Amino acid sequence: MPELNLVLLGPPGAGKGTQAERLIKDFKLPYVATGKMLRDAVDSESELGLKAKSFMDAGDLVPDDLIVVMILERLAQGDADQGFVLDGFPRTEFQAKALDAELTKLGRKLTAALWIDAPEEEVVKRLSGRRECVKNRHVFNVYFDPPKHEDRCDMDGSRLEAREDDDPEVVKRRLAIYAQRTAPLIDYYEHREILKRVDGSRSTDAVGDAIRATIATLKFEEAV
Ligand code: AP5
Repeated sequence: MPELNLVLLGPPGAGKGTQAERLIKDFKLPYVATGKMLRDAVDSESELGLKAKSFMDAGDLVPDDLIVVMILERLAQGDADQGFVLDGFPRTEFQAKALDAELTKLGRKLTAALWIDAPEEEVVKRLSGRRECVKNRHVFNVYFDPPKHEDRCDMDGSRLEAREDDDPEVVKRRLAIYAQRTAPLIDYYEHREILKRVDGSRSTDAVGDAIRATIATLKFEEAV
């Protein structure tokens, strides 16, 4: 298979970031996560960060035009020419069409949209237990993947804190926005015959195994 161009879809807390970490290690792919890029922009108080912050704090989507410019600039950096993992993009039909148009222009296409699905009750619990370290944003979970020392990162020793948008009221808003704006992409990619559903309600390892098996099948199909 010449290129592995992957999109990760799924509700907040489904495990997109967690599984992306595994994918990029297993398949040596660059990781492009819009949420992470936006949080970096907010931290550095760049023009983009200043524009994005109020939307993110409220659990709303950052406007499409800002996101599409950010992603197309990122994909043009060269390291994604042989494949990529996109986490959190696209999130609207406008973004999906912009991505398709850009890839078509380059003679490329998406390999698969991996839809990590998990029930609302489960993702709400995961998000209430998520903690990130302030230094490198390593992710833990007080229920499912606790750090060895309370409130300290196992990797770099820095303080752990909850993400601001993991506040329960903001999570409700994020889930509603997902259902309204992002879930329609499931049909969008199914129609293009590249949607692969993964049951994300299982353990992290079980979900990772299912994704690996899905990609192995894709590679096999490409080879025959
Ligand atoms: P973003 O950062 O993309 O947030 P999200 O999509 O809501 O996803 P999360 O990061 O909350 O969840 P995840 O699925 O990655 O779960 P994780 O692996 O961390 O976006 C944030 C904001 O930025 C948006 O609200 C919006 O404002 C803006 N934005 C971003 N992209 C945009 C776009 N394209 N357009 C417009 N605006 C955009 O796991 C969660 C927790 O569960 C962790 O603690 C983890 O350890 C644990 N966990 C993971 N898997 C399992 C498992 N299988 N079992 C048990 N625990 C698990």
